[in-house]
Amino acid sequence: MASPGSPVVLGIESSCDETGAGLVRDGRLLGHAVASSMDEHARYGGVVPEIAARAHVHSLTPVVRRALDEAGLTMADIGAVAVTTGPGLSGALQVGLAGAKGLAYGLGVPLYGVHHLAGHVAADTLEHGPLPDPCMVLIVSGGHTSLLLVRDLARDPIVHLGDTLDDAAGECFDKVARVFGLPYPGGPAIDRAAREGDPKAVAFPRPLTGPRDDPYGFSFSGLKTAAARWAERHAGQELPVADGAASLQEAVADVLTRKAVAACKEHGVRTLVVVGGVAANSRVRSLAEERCQAAGITLRVPPLRLCTDNGAMIAAVGDLLVRAGAEPAPLNLSIDPSAPLEYAALHPVARAAQAVA
Ligand code: KG4
Ligand code: ZN
Repeated sequence: MASPGSPVVLGIESSCDETGAGLVRDGRLLGHAVASSMDEHARYGGVVPEIAARAHVHSLTPVVRRALDEAGLTMADIGAVAVTTGPGLSGALQVGLAGAKGLAYGLGVPLYGVHHLAGHVAADTLEHGPLPDPCMVLIVSGGHTSLLLVRDLARDPIVHLGDTLDDAAGECFDKVARVFGLPYPGGPAIDRAAREGDPKAVAFPRPLTGPRDDPYGFSFSGLKTAAARWAERHAGQELPVADGAASLQEAVADVLTRKAVAACKEHGVRTLVVVGGVAANSRVRSLAEERCQAAGITLRVPPLRLCTDNGAMIAAVGDLLVRAGAEPAPLNLSIDPSAPLEYAALHPVARAAQAVA
């Protein structure tokens, strides 16, 4: 039974291939569970939207139940529901939103739509407490590479400093891993292979790091092509995968951390938060640590289980919104698969219903 105070917020995440449910109250993680359809996508080398959506239908209820069990709570203890409404795969988002609406309506509790990237930002608060205002956030995942200047996550607009022009950092790892003959998802496989390799073996490019380039823009498709060309040059011989993986990882980590630290210096920000699946990368972590320390910047990286997609991070945003007194979403809340990041709360309303109103 939950004690009185702030309500327990249930967070639901279903934007890609992970079905997540998490329970948060007053900034504290009470329990969470994740089911992944990753294995079902592996033979296609990437996420198949229809397979992901169907997997969410199967997993949503069991995942919510597991999160409640872990927290020692029941449905009746849920005081608010937060759900990812974008960005993400349309069918996948629909399943989570339908489930969240059903729960909020059935329980008679408020509903909040949450921007997926704001969820990644908030994940760190569950481990390291409230974020300082301001802080710099580097989001690096399979779908995103973004630099954000964050103030009060629940109240203030999020300043989007830069993005990738093409592939995301994780996507680059995933695609190059395929060329190197490593399994999907490629990021962890590259990380493992790199342990035995020499990061200086191949001089891969450092895209968009020239004096005239956008200091906060990223581009990884040229790097991906360079890695593919390097692999092609070894046709007929054994590919030195470890050296290739270590050199690629070094190039990605170098660009990411260089730009993130420069953004902190430029904006006078003393805290860098690195989140998203690629924050799990051992070289991204160690180089970020090294460069932040040299620049007098505090580095925060959430633990691995909170770095990849999960429901706890969505509950964390919901909890911040509830405590900030944010307006709940109407029940005709809709998804926005390509939602721009402006505010943590993402409350697009179904167009048909808007036209009637
Ligand atoms: O945040 P996430 O779980 O899902 C998205 O929203 O995309 O990130 C998944 C991405 C994948 O591209 C995966 O290869 C990458 O994170 N990743 C890693 C590592 N672990 C996961 N990349 C590099 N090194 C890792 N250790
Ligand atoms: Zn994500």
